[in-house]
Amino acid sequence: MSSEELATKIAQMDIAALVFTDEATGSDEAGNGSKDAPYKTPQAALAHIASLPEDKQEETKILTKKAEEGYTYITPSALKRAKKSYELSVKKALKQAEQDARDQAQVEAKLAEEQRRIAESMEIVLTEDPALPQATRIRVIDAKANRNTRIKVSGWVSRHRVQGRDMMFIVLRDGTGFLQCVLTNQLCRTYDALTLTIESSVTLYGEIKEVPEGKSAPDGHELIVDFWEVIGKAPGGDESIENLFNSNSDPSVLLQQRHLVIRGDKASSILKVRSRVMKAFRDHFDNVGYTEVTPPCMVQTQVEGGSTLFSFNYYGEEAYLTQSSQLYLETCLPSMGGVYTMSESYRAEKSHTRRHLSEYTHCEAEVPFITFDELLDGIENMIKDVVNRVWAEPETRAMIQALNPEFEPLTEPFVRMRYEEGIKWLNEHGIKRAEDGQDFEFGDDIPEAPERVMTDAIGKPIFLTHFPGPIKAFYMPPCKDDPRVTESADLLMPSVGEIVGGSMRIWDYETLLAAYKREGLDPAPYYWYLDQRKYGSCPHGGFGLGVERFLAWLTKSFSVRDCCLYPRFTGRCQP
Ligand code: 4AD
Repeated sequence: MSSEELATKIAQMDIAALVFTDEATGSDEAGNGSKDAPYKTPQAALAHIASLPEDKQEETKILTKKAEEGYTYITPSALKRAKKSYELSVKKALKQAEQDARDQAQVEAKLAEEQRRIAESMEIVLTEDPALPQATRIRVIDAKANRNTRIKVSGWVSRHRVQGRDMMFIVLRDGTGFLQCVLTNQLCRTYDALTLTIESSVTLYGEIKEVPEGKSAPDGHELIVDFWEVIGKAPGGDESIENLFNSNSDPSVLLQQRHLVIRGDKASSILKVRSRVMKAFRDHFDNVGYTEVTPPCMVQTQVEGGSTLFSFNYYGEEAYLTQSSQLYLETCLPSMGGVYTMSESYRAEKSHTRRHLSEYTHCEAEVPFITFDELLDGIENMIKDVVNRVWAEPETRAMIQALNPEFEPLTEPFVRMRYEEGIKWLNEHGIKRAEDGQDFEFGDDIPEAPERVMTDAIGKPIFLTHFPGPIKAFYMPPCKDDPRVTESADLLMPSVGEIVGGSMRIWDYETLLAAYKREGLDPAPYYWYLDQRKYGSCPHGGFGLGVERFLAWLTKSFSVRDCCLYPRFTGRCQP
């Protein structure tokens, strides 16, 4: 029969008795076996036939079409092959269905068991045994001194691990340390135990026992719990803290979740070191006899140039967030002698670098009747003394060592290098100006990148001194032996760069007035600063140290953003 004849015959036949397949245009998914919507493969046609009523199955025939050819009945050999492959796929599907059913049953059984355990757990109500001695509240830091007596301790679940049905370990964190706690039997079968999430707050009661030899736990002991209660449950599932971020999360995620990130080991260690460092600075100043003062943050004068001023409307007048407390410290000299402050300074920094913040803690000091060399000695002694003080505290030292394993206290004298020598060093080492690829020239500002190359290459603290007046602040006095440069210094530290900026101050009234004129500043709002030069002036100097930069150096933190509680920089004023 020709294909035309067959097509005519087909058109006259009962369509249900024929199933069409077309290798070129058919579809097993979208087809229905009719001539208008053929299947692609004979296997699909066989599946179609299998779905027909039994009496129709026998009479139904498959017609196939290949490429340009017309429809023909499927050849016996092709039908045999198709049947074999169809049967195989049916068997496979059956097997899969059986497996799926088994898996489903297992899931259901597990769920049922879980529900049973949960239901059972809800029946369990823990009560504190009145026969036990009264528990004394302690903090984790006091655990060693309170071994073998009944205590209670509150904190947050830092980690927890279930071991079988009858044992559970909680590592408790209370801000003073970590304590391993062991819960057994009924204690780990309650609803709270079964649904415990990390960062939940809990109170645990029991006795602290030394761990047996061969076992390890923080401080060599663990709390054998006899009663416990959940104080505040943290969410699990999608909202669980582990789901919000981890150590590999994008920095923007970590910044957005900073309020939770600070619970982590690294962030909290840096913040604790920060606290000890701030104390060490205060102890140092106390020891050298300087008085702490608290200057205002809202001001109407600038210190370090107008480009980084944050201005705001102060009852209808323009005011700024202070860039530095220096000018106010200077006013304290006649009444208090050496003074210092640890206050916030603000800089509207356009630069998005790892050492710039919009708000930072500024440790500043001002000292009367000193020389420039005495100023440098004072800064060097302070840095060394502060490091020695924190290093002498075993806990702070351990945190510094964990954060910065190579750190060693400073013993050698700091390198002292004039700005002019610094320019020479850069040119000798082939470091060029970024803007035109030329050698640096006297008078150029040394930008952050070349400064860091030089500091890292030298690998020691460097006082870079005697900067040209035009690249420094208005209050810095010219040197007597070289009026091109000022009595100024930056302290540069490896891996961070500048951490201190200091100088002597112009102390002559007329010279200061001329400096205002040169800078195009109106001296009127600075009347109180000028008065210092009028009412018993004196030679004096001081410096400012960025606490976050000092910490970045000490703890080898990549960015100053990790060295403060809630960093503020371009585009971030949250949380
Ligand atoms: O060199 P600076 O601008 O000096 C002053 O403000 C002086 N008035 C200080 C003084 O003599 N009392 O800033 C001093 C230090 C810098 O060395 C740096 O450590 C830090 O303050 N600093 C910053 N830290 C973080 N983010 C910023 N945007 C900073 N700007 C300065």
